[in-house]
Amino acid sequence: MLTLSNVHVYYGHVHALKGVSITVEDGKIVSLLGSNGAGKSTTLKFISRLIQPKNGGYEVDGKSMLKASPHKVVKSGIIHCPENRRLFPLFTVEENLRMGAFSRRDKNIKEDLERVFSYFPRIKERIKQKAGTLSGGEQQMLAIGRSLMAKPKVLLLDEPSLGIAPILVKEIFAIIKKINQDGTSILLVEQNANMALSVSDYAYVLENGNIALEGSSQVLRNNDEVRRLYLGG
Ligand SMILES: Nc1ncnc2c1ncn2[C@@H]1O[C@H](COP(=O)(O)OP(=O)(O)O)[C@@H](O)[C@H]1O
Ligand SMILES: [Mg+2]
Repeated sequence: MLTLSNVHVYYGHVHALKGVSITVEDGKIVSLLGSNGAGKSTTLKFISRLIQPKNGGYEVDGKSMLKASPHKVVKSGIIHCPENRRLFPLFTVEENLRMGAFSRRDKNIKEDLERVFSYFPRIKERIKQKAGTLSGGEQQMLAIGRSLMAKPKVLLLDEPSLGIAPILVKEIFAIIKKINQDGTSILLVEQNANMALSVSDYAYVLENGNIALEGSSQVLRNNDEVRRLYLGG
């Protein structure tokens, strides 16, 4: 279980997170919704220890992670699939996937490549292609695949639907659900509340650095305010 309690983050004078508290229980998909600039990516960067908080708590399975390095966070199985995908465009699909396993010492990498290909057959078909030549949706699949190569216990996904054709968004969300059912907890950051709520168990709505609303995804889907503000009426 991953818990943030009352986390405050500043960028200079910008108070980006104003006391954020969220919990990701083992085995669940938790959505973190909110419009542009709400603080969603900042929350994920904080969890990965890429930015320091002003104050607040952060625990994984009861142990504080406030002093952990980004590398230690990865070692404990918390893997961040970032907003802009950060692929190596001139490297092949396979090389990008293998880089996802860089922090591992074990030798089951071949097996895990096969696992990624079972989720994303499109990626397998393009294994020798340079990552930069893939479509946006395929690049997103590759970025998720690369994160899976690190064997995540908790996968942090930052806006997997961004800039992707609707048909591929549907495909990617179905696979996100499958990855979760196979045993990985997921913290899913999205502006696409409809898609996110359709796969998640629980959700938080972030507004201007504050958690404005939280609840089971099913309840939030039927909440008038959420429907009006985030689900298009
Ligand atoms: N590196 C940065 N320096 C200064 N301000 C930043 C930086 N990154 C983000 N911010 C600000 O912090 C707030 C939250 O940003 P972010 O977490 O990226 O939002 P979201 O991911 O929800 O769109 C925004 O007001 C944004 O302008
Ligand atoms: Mg963002």
